[in-house]
Amino acid sequence: MKKAEIIVDKYFLTGAVDKRIFGSFIEHLGRAVYEGIYQEDSPFADEQGMRKDVLELVKELQVPIVRYPGGNFVSGYHWEDGVGPKEQRPAKVDLAWQVIESNQFGLNEFVDWAKKAGTEVMMAVNLGTRGPEEAKDLLEYCNFKKGSYYSDLRRKHGYEEPHDIKLWCMGNEMDGPWQMGHKTAKEYGRAAAETSRLMKFMDPSIETVACGSSSLGMDTFGHWEDEVLSECYDQVDYLSLHQYYGNRDNNTPEFLANSKGMDEFISSVLSIADCVKAKKRSKKQINLSFDEWNVWYHSNEADAKLEKWVQAPHQLEDVYNFEDALLVGSMLITMLRHADRVKVACLAQLVNVIAPIMTSDTGAWRQTIFYPYMHASVYGRGTVLNTLVKAPFYESRNYGEVSFLDSVCVWNEADEELTIFAVNKDLEEDLEVSCDMRQFADYKVVEHIILTNDDMKAVNTEDAPQCVVPVAGNASRLEDGRFNTVFGKHSWNVVRLKK
Ligand code: AHR
Repeated sequence: MKKAEIIVDKYFLTGAVDKRIFGSFIEHLGRAVYEGIYQEDSPFADEQGMRKDVLELVKELQVPIVRYPGGNFVSGYHWEDGVGPKEQRPAKVDLAWQVIESNQFGLNEFVDWAKKAGTEVMMAVNLGTRGPEEAKDLLEYCNFKKGSYYSDLRRKHGYEEPHDIKLWCMGNEMDGPWQMGHKTAKEYGRAAAETSRLMKFMDPSIETVACGSSSLGMDTFGHWEDEVLSECYDQVDYLSLHQYYGNRDNNTPEFLANSKGMDEFISSVLSIADCVKAKKRSKKQINLSFDEWNVWYHSNEADAKLEKWVQAPHQLEDVYNFEDALLVGSMLITMLRHADRVKVACLAQLVNVIAPIMTSDTGAWRQTIFYPYMHASVYGRGTVLNTLVKAPFYESRNYGEVSFLDSVCVWNEADEELTIFAVNKDLEEDLEVSCDMRQFADYKVVEHIILTNDDMKAVNTEDAPQCVVPVAGNASRLEDGRFNTVFGKHSWNVVRLKK
């Protein structure tokens, strides 16, 4: 059996986990909104048409923040179409996804839904076909108390109190040629700066996110970050990253190696952000919002055949398998290891569209990726410890040496809890792990949760929703400050210790 060692020291801190790192995303896309979080004619609908079964699962995930309403959709969106009496709302053509948007669900419904789900709203403004003026109007509608046109319009629509939305995305993926209103880095950097400046004139308590690259693979990557931040460094608070992975050539070790790519992506963007900081001789630090990340490829073929200009089609409905859950776990670990600089992240998306939660007319169920996401969100709050990890490697085509063991340790000092999240990427062998935790000798192992499966391609479906579910591991003990355990081959592990 291969062996690994983890050294945990309570004085070596990476940084506090911002709970918003466990955020998610709802776009007007496919069945995320309609038939996802909202379905008036469903037996599961509450008095507002919100699906109660979905709300229950979202609460299980303890999602702290949800980005809305896009995504590519936002770059052509007129938020005014989605407020006010529903019978007066226009159906519009959505060029991003080539569908019809009924606008029967809009900003106020989303704010209501978020309250019911116990989550905050991260709102995106349209910097594709619109600009600073309309973004400022939207902020006025959402956050201004009263006595102005848009704040009074909100009150007329039944919302006396401001929505008080604190986090705002300055557009979406503006580097992408597929984006409505696609811009050069300079054009976008100026637009982001001016939009953010206007919005902060109105409400200085908000934070804003500028668009970074749509993925590490973009030809403009690097230059884009540099030029955008050169224009808007002083006006914005975060820079975004987006990244999706797929296992198109069915090479699982290579697929699982992608978290190393994510790690390198984060480090590269930080270097560029800090380089701009240095060039500007600025005291301000730009942190990161990894506001779209996931596995996305299973649905590509089916989506290419979809009928256009219909409402809420089955679009981007990836059915996730067990190996996807392992990579999602590794991606969560990767972002946690950068907790000092990654302050916001959104699993894209939340319901039906590349999502941990799926619905049909007869119920809702958890996809495989639901579990690592839930475990990280529920048990990953606290401070990330900078552990020393010695583990064997394998050689990957894209990333060179990749550790079989991905791990991170989160200490919740207030609750006297310590959690180790770990993925063993070895498809053949278990990994014997020894953790040196001398300063936590008075802690006890309370739980070892394991997600594994003999079939890397096993999925959860409506008819068989329990194929890939977590199980309890054997209760290894912490003795004399040393914790010895085994992380089984291809497994996601959550070891919870408590004083
Ligand atoms: O999440 C799906 C799409 O992926 C988003 O609309 C877009 O921002 C990204 O390309």
